[in-house]
Amino acid sequence: MSCSLGVIGLGRMAQVILLPLLERGDFRPDQVCGVVGQKASVQNAKEQLPRGVQVFSSDDPSSLVVWNAPIKLLAVKPQHLDAVEEMWNQVDMEAPSSDQLLISLLAGVNLKRLGAIFTDCSCVRAVPNTPALVGAGLTGLAWGDEITYEQKLLVEKFFKPISEVLELPETQLDAFLALASSGPAYVALIAEALADGAVAAGLPRLLANYLAHRTLFGTSLLLKEKALHPGQLKDMVASPGGTTITALRQLESAGVRSALMEAVVAAAERSRELA
Ligand SMILES: NC(=O)c1ccc[n+]([C@@H]2O[C@H](COP(=O)([O-])OP(=O)(O)OC[C@H]3O[C@@H](n4cnc5c(N)ncnc54)[C@H](OP(=O)(O)O)[C@@H]3O)[C@@H](O)[C@H]2O)c1
Repeated sequence: MSCSLGVIGLGRMAQVILLPLLERGDFRPDQVCGVVGQKASVQNAKEQLPRGVQVFSSDDPSSLVVWNAPIKLLAVKPQHLDAVEEMWNQVDMEAPSSDQLLISLLAGVNLKRLGAIFTDCSCVRAVPNTPALVGAGLTGLAWGDEITYEQKLLVEKFFKPISEVLELPETQLDAFLALASSGPAYVALIAEALADGAVAAGLPRLLANYLAHRTLFGTSLLLKEKALHPGQLKDMVASPGGTTITALRQLESAGVRSALMEAVVAAAERSRELA
């Protein structure tokens, strides 16, 4: 038994990438196999995927087939990389083909480290974000030196249907992650806080949640469609002595702008630390 695409860590992000590939027929289910950490997760992963995709737990000797796949998607949490490395070193590889490809989603794990572990593979780092779930994601890609043109096209096939793809030097990937990949959590927190404020000011919860969400959505669309600088949009809304400038003054005195900047810098530093 062999498979074309082996997924190491069949969790949330791997499934976001994998399901569209299967839906579009880029891979048949029987060409895909994956491995999860715990036996208890096998059934759950199978239920999320089309029939025919094979799923193994990491301690199952049959999981060998995943490691031997010519294309590997590495999607475990960075803290599980040591366990993956241990497994990989125990794998008795079938004659490795020269064009093995490893796509890593791991935050902070650089190409040098990946290349040292997966010695027979061409490696690429991919940093997607969760709006990929609705086809509105962003993915940053940094290529290893040995990657071929054909492999680049193949990797793009994984990410273009769910996200806009940006090719970046690896040195920019931590900052990309800190904004684009962690960003949906910051924005969700802002949406929640805005809704809480509206509830405190007297609106019912459901209406407040809806208004917060629509305000973020509409603002984002307006910035994009009219190609506005954020400062221009702020100035359009804030009239002299009005409600908005009063609120903005409050935000500035609470240090919101600086807190957001520091959050992005801290996330980028954490990503570098994980390396
Ligand atoms: N979520 C995001 O927004 C996002 C964005 C960009 C990048 N990423 C990156 O994507 C990666 C995956 O994130 P996620 O959110 O998808 O995590 P997740 O849902 O927790 O999935 C991790 C998967 O790895 C499996 N696993 C754990 N130990 C393993 C081992 N030793 N061998 C094989 N599989 C093992 C887990 O199985 P068990 O459940 O059985 O332990 C699970 O299926 C991370 O490196 C993260 O940095 C995530």
